[in-house]
Amino acid sequence: PHVGTGQTVAKIILLGEHSVVYGYPAIALPMHSLKMTARVEPVRGGHDEGTLTGLGWSGPISKAPAHFASILRAREVAAEFVGDPDGLLSITTESEFPAQRGLGSSAAAAGAVIRAVLNAYDAKATAHEIFTLTQEAETIAHGQPSGLDAVTTSATSPVHFQAGRTTDLGLPLDAWIVIADSGIHGSTRETVGHVRSLYENSFRETQESLSRLGKIAEGAVDNLRSSDISQLGIKMTESHGILADLGVSTVQLDELVYAALDAGALGGKLTGGGGGGCVIALAHSYEDAQRISDAMREAGARATWTHAPLLNEVVA
Ligand code: PMV
Repeated sequence: PHVGTGQTVAKIILLGEHSVVYGYPAIALPMHSLKMTARVEPVRGGHDEGTLTGLGWSGPISKAPAHFASILRAREVAAEFVGDPDGLLSITTESEFPAQRGLGSSAAAAGAVIRAVLNAYDAKATAHEIFTLTQEAETIAHGQPSGLDAVTTSATSPVHFQAGRTTDLGLPLDAWIVIADSGIHGSTRETVGHVRSLYENSFRETQESLSRLGKIAEGAVDNLRSSDISQLGIKMTESHGILADLGVSTVQLDELVYAALDAGALGGKLTGGGGGGCVIALAHSYEDAQRISDAMREAGARATWTHAPLLNEVVA
């Protein structure tokens, strides 16, 4: 092998997190300006087990904290795929977005490492093969990931995802999205586990909430097609309420949503697993997005990104 690189991007879930785990549809967008890059390098000289750098931690692989498990597993599954399971490769990741905030960093890192290993061995794989490998790596981090993160962090346009099937919506979203980081770590494994226990203990109500989240996501496809951004915003806020009822929001996330709505957002909601992490808000114009971004910072957001999906770039 030689030095190999791979790249993926951050993702946001516009609608359908949690319910997607139960087979309902979700819509997610890749954020092409927030990149995750991985570089792998053959390690020379026998006993060096390889190192991990980036994502806020660096050191020998055997001492890596547990939340890096999916990255290590990604290297393992990719090395098996290229037929060199014992190959020694050090991994360096560089991320333009924070980890453990519902932006898909674990799937993005796993996907980037897998691509980097394939690249190091000049190996070819289909998109489906890469998805399967990423899912295998992700299973360590999340238990039973729906696959939405693995798909969207490698996507080129908004995707509709349901029960493992992906449809590339191919539609630009003619609106601005402000992403606000609460600065608080959210554990997707924990919130997914929480919803699972609700599902088992209060089946009827939980089923009803999940089905409503799914219907909202499905209905939003038409809004996207007709560029009915106002309706999309209403659906986002409604979804946030249902997610909050399911217990996956927090006071801080609710406050960020209220701040965005007060500042004129068309809609706002948590995105990803919740329990911390990020909130997204929808705006008509750049000026509106700026006002919403300022309001969310004032309400405690650690960082904000203003994103114009139509242009597919972060502008502030
Ligand atoms: O927190 P994230 O970015 O990993 O998103 C999780 C999305 C869930 O629907 C809650 C879980 C899943 O596997 O789809």
